Formats: sequence, structure tokens, C-alpha cells
Amino acid sequence: MRMIKLGIREAGAKAARGPLAVAATALLTATALVALPQSTAHAADTLGAAAAEKGRYFGAAVAANHLGEAQYAATLNTEFNSVTPENEMKWDALEPSRGSFSFGNADRIVNHARGRGMAVRGHTLVWHSQLPGWVSGLGTSDLRSAMNNHITQVMTHYRGQIHSWDVVNEAFQDGSSGARRSSPFQDRLGNGFIEEAFRTARATDPNAKLCYNDYNTDGVNAKSNAVYTMVRDFKSRGVPIDCVGFQSHFNSASPVPSDYRANLQRFADLGVDVQITELDIEGSGTTQATNYGNVVTACLAVSRCTGITVWGIPDKYSWRSSGTPLLFDDNYTKKPAYHAVLSALGGSDGGGGDPGGPGDPDAACTAAYTTAEDWGGGYNGKVTITAGRSPISAWAVNVTMTPPQKVSTVWNGSPTWDGSGNVMTVRSSWNGTLAAGASTTFGFTVTRNGGSTTPPQLGPCTAS
Ligand code: XIL
Repeated sequence: MRMIKLGIREAGAKAARGPLAVAATALLTATALVALPQSTAHAADTLGAAAAEKGRYFGAAVAANHLGEAQYAATLNTEFNSVTPENEMKWDALEPSRGSFSFGNADRIVNHARGRGMAVRGHTLVWHSQLPGWVSGLGTSDLRSAMNNHITQVMTHYRGQIHSWDVVNEAFQDGSSGARRSSPFQDRLGNGFIEEAFRTARATDPNAKLCYNDYNTDGVNAKSNAVYTMVRDFKSRGVPIDCVGFQSHFNSASPVPSDYRANLQRFADLGVDVQITELDIEGSGTTQATNYGNVVTACLAVSRCTGITVWGIPDKYSWRSSGTPLLFDDNYTKKPAYHAVLSALGGSDGGGGDPGGPGDPDAACTAAYTTAEDWGGGYNGKVTITAGRSPISAWAVNVTMTPPQKVSTVWNGSPTWDGSGNVMTVRSSWNGTLAAGASTTFGFTVTRNGGSTTPPQLGPCTAS
């Protein structure tokens, strides 16, 4: 038993690179882990290895011009096992003038990735944006042949090297209409352009997964309903489609929807894979960490959710850098969001336990939970916050309740609640200032409502 186990963990932690390795790990996990106790497992300590142990990939959007930066490349190589070129495979980059292709920057990314056993997502073949002017100027039959030629040339160049292609990107309008978005393709070729693009793609690289990719389709809404109807129609008529990409660009105006998992699941139930393709979540600290953790948990709950890609590595290179939406700060330090993702994937980094959890010597503060009094129908929870090696002036920690348990009162801390009502962020009130190594406590009363006895789960402690 032990030897089998070691083999699995090695596959997950070291060799889990590329789609074959991912698939192999998934198979091993599915068939062999059943008989093995989880408790003795050594947790994976990178995003890619932790995701691989769950049979998924964890990728990043990558820009060719950053690959020469040592810290950028080191973070990419250590943490991720899939890449998406952020701009280098778009039409304006690959075919800036008709029939003349420039693959240099895209090739640099593909070679970097494949040389290290990482998988590559192709993004994107047919899109109204970052489209060179010459395409918009074409008449109907010229446009049709230009589209099919573009797909054929690009997919032939990368045949066998790309695990999934975003064949068509963002073809639907925002809002309640459920209509197709106006674009040269839509306006001249009509609704059938999407189907035609997928058929050409399948004929060119039969082994690549072919995806439709869009944004504002992450929850159940008019736009995702329209995509859903299209995918259902494609499946019923045998139009080749294998996956749907959910971009998942979130901020306060466009938060992680509460029906995210259910939406992923309904697409998966049509018989396609689902992938989270461009994840970024504006924010900071525990709120951002909670949102990231929820996205990962939703993907893991859907067996056909095969992987997650974050849309960049450090905040400073994000297309929305002012919203600090990524997992690494400008110095490549792991943010609370990183730790939330790793922990949701079942991983853990370093020997110090969970960051900000009990016993982490490097954390600015740590949080530890105990149940103080338990009277069956409810209990009082107590959390001890301890400052790390430096003094702090404020702290915060997320407390996640298992429904139908509900918190009724909180003392010595000030709570706010997320949309689900199950995650409470408790911030210091009068007791934020702590000397190095000093502790304070906050407490709360929980009613069980006849429900589970699972104790509250603490997120990492963050301090300022
Ligand atoms: C963005 C890139 O991140 C930027 O660098 C570029 O200037 C614009 O495009 N949806 C997509 C991605 O499908 O290709 C976009 O990427 C972000 C929105």
C-alpha cells in the first residue's frame, strides 16, 4: 500500500506536467486512492501539483516579453502546469496581413511550456477583437475563406501541441437579449459562422479539444442561457464541440455568482468539459482569498471541470493591474488568495502548516479555533489571534460555517458576511493592536438549527 501511495504522490508532485500526465494522475487517483487513507498523504506544495492530484491542470496566461525575467519564469515554472498565450495567438498577432503569418512570439511561449512538460491552451482563433483591419474590410466569400484559412494555418502549425483551443471567443451580446454580438463574422456570415469555425477546426487538429469561450456567462443568466442553447444544439446535431470556457473576470460590479457551480454543472451535463479560462478577481486580503477559494471549490465539485487558468502571474502585469486581481503581488510574494487556492486544491506549502494557521512561524498573525461551551443545540466558538514576529495594528480572519448552522452574536470582533451568509469575515474592533507574539480572542455563538456538528473552518489570519 505504501509503495503504491508514494508512486501516486510522485506522479502528482513531480511528473504531473502536460495533459497525458494529468490524465494519468487522474486515472491513478480515481482507481488507486480509494483504498488508501488520505490522512497520511503528503500535500502537494504548488498549484500545478495540487491540481494534478485532483486530475486538473492549473495554468496562467503568459506574455512572451516577460519570459526573460528570472522571477517571472521561475514562478511560472514552479507553480503552473499549463499556459495560455495572453495575446500572442490572437489574429492580429499571428496574421497581421492576409496570408502572412508570424508565429515567433507564440512559438516562444509554446516552446517554453512544452520544454517543461506544461500543457498549452490556444487562445483564440475567431474573435471580433484584436482583429486586424484587413479582415473587417472583406466581403462575404472572402471573409469565409479568410476565416477558414486562418484556422487551418494556425492549427496546422501547432497540431499536436495544444490541448484545448478557444475556437470562437465572445460571440454573444451582454444583457438580456441573448443575441449574437455584431462582428464582421456575425454580420457577414450569420449565425452559422460559429459552427463552420468548429467544423474547420476539427478537420485540422482532431486531437485538440475545441472550446467556445466567453465572459459574463459564469452564472445562470440570459447570456449563458444563449450559449447553453447553442451548445445543446451543437451536441444534438453532431457539430464538433468539446468544451466551454468561462472567463471568470470578477470584481465588485461582477462578483463570483452564487450559482457558479450549478452553471458549470449544467453545461457539463450537456456532455462537454468546462474550463475556467481567464480567472482574475479584483480585491485584496481575506475577501479576495475567499472568492478565489470558492471558485476553485466550485470547479472541483464538477467532475468535468478539467482545469483553471488565472489571467496572469503578478498583479503588476495584469490587464487590470489597478484591481490587484491575481495570486502573486508585484514582488512575486504569494498573496492570501494564493494560499486559499492551494488549500482549496488540497495542497499546502512549506513545513509551517497553513499560512496564518496555528504554528506558521512566518505569518504576520495566526488564528486558532476552540469550542468554548457546547449545549447540543448550539455552542460558543473562540478564536485566538496571535501576532507574529512583528507588532500589528489590525487583523482579520474568515470563519466559514457549515449550513444550516448560523452565527447569532459576535463579541470582541466586528463581522461582515459574504453573499451566501456562510462566510463571516471578522476584523479586529478595539483589540487590533498587538505586540509581537501577543494574543487576543474573539468569540461567537452558533445555533445548529438541527444541523451538522462540523466546527467552523478558519481561513488564514491577515494583519496590517
Ligand atoms: C486581454 C489581454 O489580457 C490584454 O493584454 C489585451 O490588451 C486585451 O486582451 N477576454 C479575453 C482575453 O478573451 O483575450 C482578454 O485579454 C481579456 C478579456
